[in-house]
Amino acid sequence: MAYKLLKNEGTARRGEFETVHGTVQTPAFMNVGTAAAIKGGISSYDLVDLKCQVELCNTYHLHLRPGDDLIYDMGGLHKFMGWKGPILTDSGGFQVFSLAKLRTIKEEGVYFSSHIDGKKIFMGPEQSMQIQSNLASTIAMAFDECIENPATREYTVSSIARTTRWLVRCKREMQRLNSLESTINRNQLLFGINQGSTFHDLRIQHMIDIAELDLDGYAIGGLAVGDTAEEMYGVIEAIEPYMPKNKIRYLMGVGTPVNIIEAVHRGVDLFDCVMPSRNARHGHLFTWSGIRNLINEKYARDDAPLDEQCDCPCCRNHSRAYLRHLFKANEMLAMRLAVQHNLYFYNTLMEKIRAALDDGTFEQFRAQMVPILGKRI
Ligand code: GUN
Ligand code: ZN
Repeated sequence: MAYKLLKNEGTARRGEFETVHGTVQTPAFMNVGTAAAIKGGISSYDLVDLKCQVELCNTYHLHLRPGDDLIYDMGGLHKFMGWKGPILTDSGGFQVFSLAKLRTIKEEGVYFSSHIDGKKIFMGPEQSMQIQSNLASTIAMAFDECIENPATREYTVSSIARTTRWLVRCKREMQRLNSLESTINRNQLLFGINQGSTFHDLRIQHMIDIAELDLDGYAIGGLAVGDTAEEMYGVIEAIEPYMPKNKIRYLMGVGTPVNIIEAVHRGVDLFDCVMPSRNARHGHLFTWSGIRNLINEKYARDDAPLDEQCDCPCCRNHSRAYLRHLFKANEMLAMRLAVQHNLYFYNTLMEKIRAALDDGTFEQFRAQMVPILGKRI
């Protein structure tokens, strides 16, 4: 169960991450199925055709509905969703801060009200590990505080110190849960999360502290939450030398195709983002010529596929005119086809990144693609 670095190009890395649910070729993009479903009507078997390697689900949402005890009784998330590949669960440490109401942070954890029915709930490091163990995901994320930017230095110092103490508790609880006979996935992995807002020295010190705990992987959190892309790249560059070389590195909640290429260039291996599915549902499609807003009148009688260079189920079978009509008529199929295209695009982007790293041509790929992929057409 380990990360294997296959090849370097500068700080960019081509690798493999072995888990009990299969080996992930990295760099990789995780497809987001927050509540055990990809929004837009995409099933687990669709994901196979869309070249998805890893699915991401959320502790917070599944704990509230249908309940992690129910999912445990149904045999764990893999069986419940019908997805055989690796699953990463986020810890709730982000959703509690972005979704929950009336939240109070204490040393023991966070008290909050459910955004669904207002019910009072407590979640600390131990609860988050217990829920993720019940879900039986491949990879559990540490329970952290995601600090919104901008933040004061004083607040950041005290918050990351608590996140480190929480991480020690997460590790201890995960070891205990993995030792129990009643645990579904006794090989559950645990990733630590680096925080520190945009303060480079605090980010570096936190990275050094959490690297000592020798976890299965390391994530960079607290980015793309009010900071600019340049600030984000600056943070990654600052901490990269302090991230263990023999562990997988995950940039949480990022981002656009350009953000992903830039982060791979700076040494990141793993990504997740709601952007491909969320944008698709609004008619915003990523293509190999740039970003296309399909609702535009100019596509009303356009017989070409959404993207001539794409062989996703949508582009293989349908025209821009048809897809635009489905959006205008509010047909469910519009969402499904658009989400299929965008996820296929992201997974293909990662495939192209890996191929370029294999060939030693990643920097050429980056120089060529960055100006095109960020453009609106
Ligand atoms: N998703 C995006 N950013 C974060 C973060 O900082 N922490 C967690 N747990 N999840 C995230
Ligand atoms: Zn397509």
